Amino acid sequence: MGLYRSFVSQTRKPEGTLGKMMLNGMNSGHAKMADWGFSHLPDIAPAEVTDLGCGGGRNAGELLRKYPKANVTAVDYSALSVEKARDCNKNEIASGRCTVIQGDVSDLKLPTGKYDLATAFETVYFWPGLEKCFGQVFKILKPGGWFMICNESDGTDNVSLKYEKIIDGMKCHTTEELENALIAAGFTDIRTDHHASRPWITVLARKVQKTRTVR
Ligand SMILES: C[S@@+](CC[C@H](N)C(=O)[O-])C[C@H]1O[C@@H](n2cnc3c(N)ncnc32)[C@H](O)[C@@H]1O
Repeated sequence: MGLYRSFVSQTRKPEGTLGKMMLNGMNSGHAKMADWGFSHLPDIAPAEVTDLGCGGGRNAGELLRKYPKANVTAVDYSALSVEKARDCNKNEIASGRCTVIQGDVSDLKLPTGKYDLATAFETVYFWPGLEKCFGQVFKILKPGGWFMICNESDGTDNVSLKYEKIIDGMKCHTTEELENALIAAGFTDIRTDHHASRPWITVLARKVQKTRTVR
């Protein structure tokens, strides 16, 4: 594998020296798009938030700032991402508001029904089996909880499709594919937005509040 391909492949699961270099760039490299994504979050006051596929942990930090009363649990299956995200949020970890754990979204070990909000920035491209992974997110959300996906690829842009060809296991999903997998996993109230001039997308979905049937 050439050096360029080895480097960009670190987006999937950062490891070793190249992974460290990739993580150093990720927090700043994704910030503009992530902030656009944040502007789509509903007006809520969550108590428990989780950022899945957290990478270097910048967005977990932003969630802590946006929701000053919330606890944030950041999850990533890369040991290096976990280390970087812990370093990035060390003060909030010390104060007890942030936890960073190593885990795979296809088999989440987080407590069932605990979270008001789950976010996934620039990561679902790598999730093995969208429907299964979204089912895991559904499981850990409270009834009424929200899930937001934010990607810089809408699944049709040439730049990302070029990466898809060289990064093993990467899939740039269209909004329709994401919506269908969310519906199959049980989500409703799906709202999709596309950036006006870039291929950036956000897909927001909800675990619908169960209503009691009166007999
Ligand atoms: C391109 S990085 C994005 C990181 C961060 N969310 C951001 O926006 O900067 C993708 C991250 O998702 C993580 N990831 C990919 N598949 C995962 C999985 N199945 N479970 C947990 N983390 C995963 C990778 O280890 C990597 O840190």
